[in-house]
Amino acid sequence: MRLADAFRDAYGAAPDGVWHAPGRVNLIGEHTDYNGGLVLPFAVPWGVGAAVSPRGDGVIRLMSLQVEEEAQVLDTPEAARGWARYAAGVFWALREAGHAVGGADVVIDGDVPRGAGLSSSAALEMSVALALNDLHGLGLSRMDLAVAARRAENDFAGMPCGIMDQAASSLCEEGRALFLDCRALAGRTIPLDVAAHGLSLLIIDTGVRHELADGRYAERRAECESAARRLGVESLRDVTDLAGALGRLSGAERDRVQHVVTENHRVEATVGLLRAGAVDQLGAMLNASHLSLRDQYRVSCPELDVAVESAVRGGARGARMTGGGFGGSVVALVPEERLPSVRESVAGAYASRGWAAPRFLPAVPSAGARRLA
Ligand code: GLA
Repeated sequence: MRLADAFRDAYGAAPDGVWHAPGRVNLIGEHTDYNGGLVLPFAVPWGVGAAVSPRGDGVIRLMSLQVEEEAQVLDTPEAARGWARYAAGVFWALREAGHAVGGADVVIDGDVPRGAGLSSSAALEMSVALALNDLHGLGLSRMDLAVAARRAENDFAGMPCGIMDQAASSLCEEGRALFLDCRALAGRTIPLDVAAHGLSLLIIDTGVRHELADGRYAERRAECESAARRLGVESLRDVTDLAGALGRLSGAERDRVQHVVTENHRVEATVGLLRAGAVDQLGAMLNASHLSLRDQYRVSCPELDVAVESAVRGGARGARMTGGGFGGSVVALVPEERLPSVRESVAGAYASRGWAAPRFLPAVPSAGARRLA
């Protein structure tokens, strides 16, 4: 195994184990997680592998096969730089939570397409979290591990994300999506078998990530928190009377609340359609979600909009931006026989604008984090 061999080369002995955690695509339920809402992601076939052995001296050594640098040798997690902060942050978060997590030698290998918005950082965090849970016999649940990984990302790497990506990487199962209530932290997987209906899920990677993404994410989050305060609720999940709430808000806050509340409804409706086997009707939900993200939540961008519109023109049943927005990927529901025309339509729309060609990836619902060796 490439990862175990690399570990032996780097550290002179075989690793105690090798773990893998996937990236994710969110089918629907966008910008709802940090509002205590509902999400429906599934794991992708790509992810991050971690070969790990514990060390007795508390030192953490981290290297990645994707990064040309010597192993970072850390006396404390705080000393980590760049990509390594996501891995070191997991040691930090587990120690902060009172777990006896010593040092370790770690080699990372990942194949999540870069910049596609498929949560390579959550995959990295979860591969390390699962490894430390197993090696130290911490006995934490998959949800506990996702919570620790999110804490690493929020309070150590400095990205104010919600729980969706870490929970998806931790809890997803092959052939299924994760229906997660982000307020209760309760998740259940449900079958997501679009192939049985002659359909496939296609990821269209725009190849762009706009500079403003991180700042705008934090700004949206702050707008939602401010709207919740104004409405006197703990989170926007608690808004039950949408018309009443909208009447008490104006401007951006009004638009954000409208998106979040209707998006939660769309997740519930989508789960209902999946349970009823009405997969061919999912497209309308995806389209409505995209419009709401574009016009109310305002986290789309021209590259995402053109991908969605041209995919639908080419025969997709529906399509939407997936993930945080301002670039990254679109997920489209496409009848098998229309895959070539959808690709052609999107590629043509990009070429005619002089944009770099988008990338097309099949989105097969895959297994969550696991030990490989
Ligand atoms: C990013 C964050 C998630 C979630 C999505 C938007 O992927 O990491 O927690 O908020 O954006 O739905």
